[in-house]
Amino acid sequence: MALVTFSNPEYKDKTVYAVAGSHTETLLKLAKEHKIPLHHDCQDGECGNCVVRVSSVDNKQRMGYHLTEKEQTVLRHLGKLTKDDIEKLALDDMPSEWRLACQMIVRDEDILVEY
Ligand code: FES
Repeated sequence: MALVTFSNPEYKDKTVYAVAGSHTETLLKLAKEHKIPLHHDCQDGECGNCVVRVSSVDNKQRMGYHLTEKEQTVLRHLGKLTKDDIEKLALDDMPSEWRLACQMIVRDEDILVEY
């Protein structure tokens, strides 16, 4: 079980349990299930409306994630990541703090999601 806390200055923080490891549960799907008003549109990693900032809540090192080419392109277009950032993340096998909620699969880690 992972604990995912959704945070936005306009709303009260909400922490939900996520069943991690299904390989299908995206952050956006989890948000929708719990009626979190996270912006989204295409739900296919194209529009960038669902961009979120993800961090660890327990100071544990976050699990590495592979960003798809499509997600990298959108995050670069949004100005969240540079080409150098992306190369460094890949080299160090580190997760990006910026993600598209519709592309991020929930894993077994406790995270804070700012939207
Ligand atoms: Fe469009 Fe996620 S909803 S990129």
